[in-house]
Amino acid sequence: MTTIGFIGAGRIGTNLAAAALAVGHDVVMSNARGVESLRPLVRQLGPGARAASPAEAAEAADVAVVCIPLHQVGTVPVDELSGKVVIDTINYYPERDGSIAELDAGTTTVSEMLQRRLDSAAEPGRVGKAFNHIRADLIVTQARPAGSDDRRALAVFADDTSGAAWVAGFIEQLGFDAVVGGGTPGYDARLGAAALRRALEGARRGAD
Ligand SMILES: NC(=O)c1ccc[n+]([C@@H]2O[C@H](COP(=O)([O-])OP(=O)(O)OC[C@H]3O[C@@H](n4cnc5c(N)ncnc54)[C@H](OP(=O)(O)O)[C@@H]3O)[C@@H](O)[C@H]2O)c1
Repeated sequence: MTTIGFIGAGRIGTNLAAAALAVGHDVVMSNARGVESLRPLVRQLGPGARAASPAEAAEAADVAVVCIPLHQVGTVPVDELSGKVVIDTINYYPERDGSIAELDAGTTTVSEMLQRRLDSAAEPGRVGKAFNHIRADLIVTQARPAGSDDRRALAVFADDTSGAAWVAGFIEQLGFDAVVGGGTPGYDARLGAAALRRALEGARRGAD
């Protein structure tokens, strides 16, 4: 059992928390408006869920999930995430987040932006990208037992191999095949593991 701290308790945070609870983890939920606003959600999620501030959720976490709009990334707790695996679900939507020149130019990524923020800690949290290419509710409804013909694959991408391995195991626990790799081909596409691997590899070769 792992305690998963959520920075953000919207569509992704809520669905991922429900899925994590169902496989035996504890969750600590946080949002922008504060603990009182989270009471109904925590009641609905049931035993194993509690509400906290973002800093407290980060502190309590064995593993954290950052699932907030990109324009809020500069508020993510830093010292409380020290040394931890930090899952980044954030997508860049210029119409919501404003245009960010480095992202538009392809000279950085959202995960690198989050990692740069965490890097000011003595032992920085280690960012891995996951759950950004599946619509939030499908994390619950598309879960399937291992070996099912229609089991969907989800990508995990991280420089830190032990962090990536933990996230891959978590993805499998939730009812998906985990494929290590990053890029846009998996976005909103219901692909099995072999097809997702081919798509990510094709995109990587195209970028070389
Ligand atoms: N929805 C999807 O299907 C989906 C799929 C893949 C990836 N994503 C990405 O995942 C991220 C979250 O998406 P979402 O759909 O879950 O968004 P959402 O429903 O709008 O929820 C955002 C959550 O972030 C919280 N928040 C905002 N600023 C915060 C801050 N500074 N500190 C702590 N919490 C903060 C909000 O709190 P309040 O409620 O108090 O404002 C809310 O709980 C986005 O970057 C999105 O692009 C979404």
